[in-house]
Amino acid sequence: AKRHRPVIAIDGPAGAGKSTLAAHLARRFGFLNLETGAMYRALALKAIENDLSFDEEAPLLDLAAYTRIALEPQAEGNRVLLDGQDVSRRVREADVTAAASKVSVHPRLRAWMVQQQQALGAGGGVVMEGRDIGTAVFPDAEVKIFLDAAPEVRGDRRYRQVTPSFQKFSGDYDESTTSAPDSQVSEQQRIKQEGIIRDMKERDERDRNRAESPLQAAVDAVILDSTTLSLDEVLARAEQIVRSHLPA
Ligand code: DC
Repeated sequence: AKRHRPVIAIDGPAGAGKSTLAAHLARRFGFLNLETGAMYRALALKAIENDLSFDEEAPLLDLAAYTRIALEPQAEGNRVLLDGQDVSRRVREADVTAAASKVSVHPRLRAWMVQQQQALGAGGGVVMEGRDIGTAVFPDAEVKIFLDAAPEVRGDRRYRQVTPSFQKFSGDYDESTTSAPDSQVSEQQRIKQEGIIRDMKERDERDRNRAESPLQAAVDAVILDSTTLSLDEVLARAEQIVRSHLPA
C-alpha cells in the first residue's frame, strides 16, 4: 500500500544532535517524531531486569516475543512505554545505554524492531530517527538526512546533556560560546567527561562495525555535518533539505 504522507529519515551517530533535529522538524512540518533508539533501549532494560546476557540472541528474541514497546511522541521527544510502564527516564541511564548498543547487534532482533518501526511509519507523516532508518527501515523514505559531527564535539555535547550544572548554560544541544570557563571544570568533571566520551566512542565503534545494518549513510542520504554549525544553522539547513525533497 502506498503511504499518503512522506517519511523523513534521520540517521547518524550518538551526540550528533539527531533528537533535537528530529523534534524540530516534526514540529515544523506537523509530523510525528519517532525515536527508534528508545525501542532498543526499552528491550535492553527488560533484558537487564531479567538478568539476560546481551550476547545471546535466542533468549533476547524470546523475551521480545512477549514485550510491548510503545513510543508516545511529545513536543520534546518520546515517552517510552515498556509493557505499559513509563520508562522514559530509566532508559536514558548509562547501564541501559551501554546495553542497548550490545543488544542491537543481533540480526533477528533487529528484524523484529524493523518490522514494528515499518508498521509505525506505514502511513507516513513521520520523522523517524535512528541508525538504519534510511538504509533498512524506510529505504524508500522521501527525505534522508545523515547527521554527523566530529567525535570530540559529539562527546562534549553528550557530556553537557547529562551534566545538570551545564544545563543552565546550554540546551540539550550545546553551542561553543556557552562553554563554562576552564576554572569551573573540576578534576572530577574532567574524569566524568572523559568517561562519557570513551563510552560513546565504544558504542559508536560497535554501531558502525556490526555485521547487520551497521550505522552508515544511505547512498541517497544528504550528509549534514554539524561539527562547526550552530544549532540554528543545522535546523535551517535541514529544513531546506526537507523542503527541496517534498512536493510543494
Ligand atoms: O539513538 P540511541 O542512542 O537512543 O540508540 C541506542 C542504541 O540503539 C544505539 O547504541 C544503537 C542502537 N540503535 C540501532 O541500532 N538502530 C536504530 N535504528 C536506533 C538505535
